[in-house]
Amino acid sequence: MAETRVPKVPPPGEAVRSASPEPERGSGFSRRQFLRGSAAAGAAGAGLLPGFLKAAEAQDEPGVAGPGPVDMAFSINGEAYVATLEPRVTLLDALRNHLDLTGAKKVCDRGTCGACTVLMNGQPVYACSVLAIEAQGAEVTTVEGLGSPENMHPIQQAFVDNDGQQCGFCTPGFVVASAALLARHANPDQDTVHKELGGNLCRCGTYAGVRAAVAQVGGGTNA
Ligand code: FES
Ligand code: FES
Repeated sequence: MAETRVPKVPPPGEAVRSASPEPERGSGFSRRQFLRGSAAAGAAGAGLLPGFLKAAEAQDEPGVAGPGPVDMAFSINGEAYVATLEPRVTLLDALRNHLDLTGAKKVCDRGTCGACTVLMNGQPVYACSVLAIEAQGAEVTTVEGLGSPENMHPIQQAFVDNDGQQCGFCTPGFVVASAALLARHANPDQDTVHKELGGNLCRCGTYAGVRAAVAQVGGGTNA
């Protein structure tokens, strides 16, 4: 299987990041979705537009995707990605094994721990429980997309400030879930925090630090 990542809107003259040549097989995304999105600009800039359009035309034809690999296109952290994957591949495996985005962690792989939490159109989801092919057309945000070490999201900084991690394996999921929580509730009370983060488990028991981090950003009423 092969995958390619291109800047969503590559600056003029800038080299395009490419892991491998663009494959040309069936499709997993709609031509209409593709043409509506700014991924078209990135694909055109990378010289990938013919391959995208061929895949999009195949998608418009009636039929069932798979079981073999099909072309897929994603919008992740504001960038366009393409990959050729079997339809059975989860979003988590696509991110970690094919798109070099390893922030979301694979722990239970069955929708119980929250270590793999990412946002789809702003809503937290377990990436291990979403098929990659279903994530096409959505804006996916991983922990890498929230901030950088040089410019952290406030909740990322708050986890650092409050020792909201021990082994750290659950931390990316908690950070993403906390960012979603704070986007919905600027100043969440304790019950809201417990409810909204109830789908994330920490085997090290760092819950006090997590709550303190959320309190630091959310006004300090929930710790
Ligand atoms: S790895 Fe997805 S919920 Fe545990
Ligand atoms: S910090 Fe180790 S599982 Fe949460």
